[in-house]
Amino acid sequence: MKTLPRNTLLEKNTLPERNILPERNTLLEKNTLLERNTLLEVRDLEISFQGIETVTVLSGISFSIKESETLALVGETGCGKSIVAHAIMNLLPPESRVKGNIEFRGKSLSGMNEKEMAKIRGREIAIIFQNPSLALNPVYPIGHQLVEPLYVHQKEKKKTALFRAALALKRMGFVNFSECMNYYPSWCSGGMNQRFLIAASTILNPALLIADEPSKGLDKKCITELEAELKNLKMERKSALLLISHDLGFVQRLADRIAVMYAGEIIELANSSSLFENPLHPYTRGLLNSLPEKGFIPIPGFSPPLNSLPSGCRFHPRCPLREKRCIRVHPEIKETGERAVRCFLYP
Ligand SMILES: Nc1ncnc2c1ncn2[C@@H]1O[C@H](COP(=O)(O)OP(=O)(O)OP(=O)(O)O)[C@@H](O)[C@H]1O
Ligand code: SF4
Ligand SMILES: [Mg+2]
Repeated sequence: MKTLPRNTLLEKNTLPERNILPERNTLLEKNTLLERNTLLEVRDLEISFQGIETVTVLSGISFSIKESETLALVGETGCGKSIVAHAIMNLLPPESRVKGNIEFRGKSLSGMNEKEMAKIRGREIAIIFQNPSLALNPVYPIGHQLVEPLYVHQKEKKKTALFRAALALKRMGFVNFSECMNYYPSWCSGGMNQRFLIAASTILNPALLIADEPSKGLDKKCITELEAELKNLKMERKSALLLISHDLGFVQRLADRIAVMYAGEIIELANSSSLFENPLHPYTRGLLNSLPEKGFIPIPGFSPPLNSLPSGCRFHPRCPLREKRCIRVHPEIKETGERAVRCFLYP
């Protein structure tokens, strides 16, 4: 078994709380306080997969994320949330076709080659993948997987890298963080691996963290620790967050704005408080009504398969408010005040 070098600080399992993260550009931080700049801009994103038939899985996806802002993507399974995340990371399979534009700090990510993208992945934009067991390398201990990005991206010295790795584990609630450094992923539960992955994804202090179902498989205590860590990323480290989750309570506690997706489209985008207090789109209303505290009333029917979408509004077969035109005409997303809604009921 490969064990990590001895480090007395780690062996004591006691780490001071001092922040040893690399210094950020103070000018940028001042700007952030006065006026937050747009970090990520997704415009008219359309993604199809070519196979026996070509299936368009996302269309007309537009949103932006500002520095230290949290935007959540919610919606039923299969609506395209993870594909949005993979498109931002430029990690779509070769059979995919992408239209539209994704810009990060004003630079198009779609036009970047692998070498340019490798500089951005991990350091500038990090992702917590939906399936932690696939994201961790089974043949290396956790500590190795935590220190590696510090060596590669920040040329960190061994002692500091080990210290930062242990601190990242401590932040994720591991009391025995020094032993954990030598654990292999196969020795650990799904929840532990999820927390290792979160520690690995946030260790480089990314400007944007994409978290795809980060609370899945975690118990209540771990979810509370995860929330604290994500809030810390935003408040202290000024990271922005694209949060993908089925857990609407978790989303409500963390997100500044929420984009609701249905069958490959965004159907409503609003401030978190407005969305929860006054959902406009009939699908958003249905989604919130299906929460236990709202009476647990499910939306009748199912999401349509993406290779056979209904005509007109994609939600019309399930919509209690549909009109004749909803069956024939596809509604565009329109801005009404501070939010955007894709429904004929709103001008
Ligand atoms: N490589 C692929 N080829 C063809 N279709 C794909 C491919 N990858 C994903 N899809 C389809 O794209 C759609 C969106 O998938 P995605 O994984 O983004 O859904 P999701 O909203 O993240 O769902 P969940 O909440 O279950 O994670 C699904 O219908 C899925 O079957
Ligand atoms: S456009 Fe029509 S069918 Fe679609 S959500 Fe609005 S009212 Fe319902
Ligand atoms: Mg997903």
